[in-house]
Amino acid sequence: MNKTKILFVCLGNICRSPLAHEVFQHLVNEHGLNDRFEIESCGTGAWHVGELPDKRMRVEAQKHGIKMTHRGRTLQPQDFEYFDLILPMDKSNMKNLLAQASPQFKDKIKLFRTFDPQAHDMAEVPDPYYGGSEGFENVYNIVARTCKALLENLT
Ligand code: 4NP
Repeated sequence: MNKTKILFVCLGNICRSPLAHEVFQHLVNEHGLNDRFEIESCGTGAWHVGELPDKRMRVEAQKHGIKMTHRGRTLQPQDFEYFDLILPMDKSNMKNLLAQASPQFKDKIKLFRTFDPQAHDMAEVPDPYYGGSEGFENVYNIVARTCKALLENLT
């Protein structure tokens, strides 16, 4: 069976999208579904290419048994064709992706929290970068809940 290829997208690729990437990968591993999914994340910005996730995000993830090892990667033009589902964390990233995607690929792009059972329409994962540690905890809770629902939706 072809793998479903999922790309999680945020601005810097050091907080929200690598968390979604690694949480979703963790769930896929737990369920023995590695042959069904290929998972990646990227940033629309290139400031943090090659870097580990933000320390504050890594500390929060580690509290939940997830060791983040992703290295920052920026969006590539070929990603639109390669991935099946492209899931931006907020409306600004969504707008940026839609502006770059060829018309035939735009349907692949959906706000990540479309899959959050507790979210209202057009809900976003708030950018935690300039805030305190409670922002990272909030991001973790949103991402964990939404990844679980996303996996249920796709299996
Ligand atoms: P992320 O958070 O998009 O969730 O990775 C950010 C990380 C870095 C910056 C902004 C947001 N930055 O401006 O460097």
